[in-house]
Amino acid sequence: MTSTAALSAEQVTKAFGDALALKAVDFTCKAGEVHALLGENGAGKSTLVKILTGAMEPDSGKIVVNGKSHHFRSPLEAQVAGIGVVYQDFQLFPRLTVAENICAASVGDVSRGGFLSRRRMNAKAAGILANFGIEVDPQREVRSLDAAERKLVEISRALQTDPEYLFLDEPTAALEPKETHRLLAMIDRLRTHGKGIILVTHRLQEISEVADRATALRDGEYAGTLDRSQFSREALSELVVGRSVEEHRGPSHAPGEVRMHLSGLTLRDDSPEIDISVRERELVAVVGLIGSGVPSIMKVAGGAVATPKGASILLDGAEIEFRSPADAQKRGIGFVSDDRKAQGIVPLRSAAENIALPSLKRFGGPFVHRNAFRSAALGCQQTFDIRWTSPDQPVGSLSGGNQQKVVLSRWQVRESTFLVIQEPSQGVDIGARLQIHDYLVDYAKSGGSVFFSSSDLDEVRDIAHRIYVVHAGEIVAEFVNNSENPVTRSQLAQAMAAMIDRDEKQGVSND
Ligand SMILES: Nc1ncnc2c1ncn2[C@@H]1O[C@H](COP(=O)(O)OP(=O)(O)OP(=O)(O)O)[C@@H](O)[C@H]1O
Ligand SMILES: [Mg+2]
Repeated sequence: MTSTAALSAEQVTKAFGDALALKAVDFTCKAGEVHALLGENGAGKSTLVKILTGAMEPDSGKIVVNGKSHHFRSPLEAQVAGIGVVYQDFQLFPRLTVAENICAASVGDVSRGGFLSRRRMNAKAAGILANFGIEVDPQREVRSLDAAERKLVEISRALQTDPEYLFLDEPTAALEPKETHRLLAMIDRLRTHGKGIILVTHRLQEISEVADRATALRDGEYAGTLDRSQFSREALSELVVGRSVEEHRGPSHAPGEVRMHLSGLTLRDDSPEIDISVRERELVAVVGLIGSGVPSIMKVAGGAVATPKGASILLDGAEIEFRSPADAQKRGIGFVSDDRKAQGIVPLRSAAENIALPSLKRFGGPFVHRNAFRSAALGCQQTFDIRWTSPDQPVGSLSGGNQQKVVLSRWQVRESTFLVIQEPSQGVDIGARLQIHDYLVDYAKSGGSVFFSSSDLDEVRDIAHRIYVVHAGEIVAEFVNNSENPVTRSQLAQAMAAMIDRDEKQGVSND
C-alpha cells in the first residue's frame, strides 16, 4: 500500500428537491487513519456516507479510491472497491437469525459445493460476536435482540467483507460504555492493519479517544478539519456548532411525592425482584450493561409490553395493569423507544402526523384537523429546534437526530405527565442534546416525572436525581445525585464494572 492510499469525495453535491444537503464537499480519509465526521443534526453526514458507499448517487462530484475515480451505482459496487459500511438506521433482516444476517454478505465462505453449512455459519458468527465479548446465540432471530445487540450484529456483518475503508455512521449511539470501549479498541486495531475508518459520532469523548483527524460539515458545507494535536472539548464543539457548549451538572430542584412504584418484577428465574420508584418532579435514570435487563424494565414501566405476571405497578397510589401501549397513554404516560424504526415512527407519514399520532383524539378523532396538528408541530419545532423543510416532510427523510426530536415532541403535544424514555438523546448533536436536557429538566420542574435509561453516563450524571444500576436482572446500586453530593462518571462506571469483576471471580457469564 502506498502512502497516497486514500478515499476521497471531491466537490460532491446532492440536493433533495429544493434543499441542498451537500454543497461541493471535499473530504479525504487516508488509509491507516481514523477520521471522525462531525456536524449538527441534518448537516449532511449520513448523506455523504451514503454517497461514498454507493447507497445514493451524487448530483455532481467525484469519488476517488486509491487514485481511481468511481461512480457507484449500488452498495455492491462500493463493496467490490473495498468499502464497508454500518448505516445509521438498522439494516438487518428481522426474521433471519443473527448468523444469517452476519454471513449474508459473504455466503461463499460458509458454503460447500453450493450448500450453505449452517454449522459453519453459526460458528463463524459466534466467533465474530465474541470479539465484542457478548454471547448472543447466533441462532436467535434478529427481531428478538435489543438495539445494542443489533448494532453489534451490524458491525460484525460489515467486518465480514474485510473492507479497506469502513464507514461507521453513529455506531455507538445505542451502546453503553463497555461495548463502546470494545468497539473503539477494534477500530484502533483496524487502523494498525492499515484500514481507513470514517467514524460519524456526536460523542466528543470518542473522538479524543480514537480519531486522528476530525472534519465537520455545517449546513451541507465543509466547515474545517482538526488534527489530533488540536483536539479539546471546546475546539471540537466549536468546530461543530460554531460556539462552545455549557452543560448541566445535576438537577437543582427537589422532587415531590412518589408517582410510580414498580415492584415484584423478576427479569430472570433466579434474580431478586425489581423495586423502583419515581417521584413527581423527579428525573430517575437506569443504567446497566448489555443483557442486564434495562430495556425490559423500561418497557414494563412505559406500558410497551403487557405488565408481566407477578409485577405490580402503582401509579398515584392505584394498582394498574397495562395490556397495551394505549393503556399507558390513557394514564398520561409517554414511552420513547430506543428503536425509532421498530416502535417509534411511521417513516412515510409526515413529521406533523407522526407528532400527532398519540393525540389524534385531541385533533378531532377520525376527522383530523390538519391545521391544528400542523400548528402543534410547528410549536414543537420551536421547543426542540427541529430542522425540516416543513412539517409535511416524511419523517423517514429527516436526519436521525431530527427524528428523535419528533418522537419526543409527541408527548409534549399529548401533554403527558410521565415520560419513560430509552436513550433520550440518542443520535442528537451536542447542541440538541443540551436542548433535550433542558426540556426534560423543565418538564420535571413543572411537575412531570422522567424515568429514563441511558448508555451515556455523562447524560445520567448531568440530569438525574437518582440512578439505579442494574446488573444481570438485579438492582445492584442506587445513587442519589445532587449539588451537595454529585455523582461522578467514574463512580457509575465503577459500580457497573465491579459487577463484572464479581462475575468473573464466580465464573458467571455476563450475557
Ligand atoms: N431521502 C431524503 N429526502 C429528503 N431530504 C433528505 C433525505 N435524506 C436526507 N435529507 C435531508 O438532507 C439533510 C441532511 O441529512 P443527513 O441525514 O445527511 O444529516 P446528518 O448529518 O446525518 O444528521 P444526523 O446527525 O441527525 O444523523 C437534512 O436536511 C435531511 O432532512
Ligand atoms: Mg445521520
